[in-house]
Amino acid sequence: MTFSRRRRTADSMKRLYDWFHRYYWIIERGLGPRLERIVAGTVTAIPGVREKTALDWACGSGLLTVPLARLFRSVEGRDLSAGMLARAARRAAAAGLDIPFREGNILEPREPERSFDYVFVSFALHLFPPEEQEGILRRLLRIAREAVVVIDHGRRWNPATAIVEWLEGSHYDRYLKTDFAAMARATGAARFEERTIEGYSLLLFHR
Ligand SMILES: C[S@@+](CC[C@H](N)C(=O)[O-])C[C@H]1O[C@@H](n2cnc3c(N)ncnc32)[C@H](O)[C@@H]1O
Repeated sequence: MTFSRRRRTADSMKRLYDWFHRYYWIIERGLGPRLERIVAGTVTAIPGVREKTALDWACGSGLLTVPLARLFRSVEGRDLSAGMLARAARRAAAAGLDIPFREGNILEPREPERSFDYVFVSFALHLFPPEEQEGILRRLLRIAREAVVVIDHGRRWNPATAIVEWLEGSHYDRYLKTDFAAMARATGAARFEERTIEGYSLLLFHR
């Protein structure tokens, strides 16, 4: 079963999140603690993490950015939606963290080559069709010195997720079938790993 008719442009995605950021707490309640546990279970194991830098693309309300900022030397966030970024800035301030958040489009990132050690993308890659995902990963791999880390839906079809993703206008159905190992080879990643953690997919594209 596929839900494949509603697709969004960057403009309509921005409008959606500039409206939906007020209600993102509905998502945050479940997603936040799981992202915290994923960070605790994986990022803490990166050797020398306290000396490294990270960029969180499509950071939304900072659910991942804030736990990353507690571990990395410095972290920045980027997102299309000013509303989501305002929410992220409030989360960082409440945690006593100084995190630069800036507006940007992941399809046109402006960061120089090798400007961050790690680049993260959580729950955003499935918003794009596979032909755009490859370009996104290629560009993010240029920005990263060490790896691009993708956290996204688990790869087993879930009916509740399918309905939410249809409303969001994402490419959940195609995401589930994407061969990310092949995509990693196409993007020139030196090494690729895929793991399931907290029921989510963790995709690691090493430079
Ligand atoms: C489901 S939310 C995930 C947010 C956050 N990473 C998290 O895990 O909670 C998807 C985010 O992607 C952002 N987004 C969608 N299209 C984007 C684009 N082209 N460039 C940058 N951000 C984008 C949205 O504004 C939204 O904040």
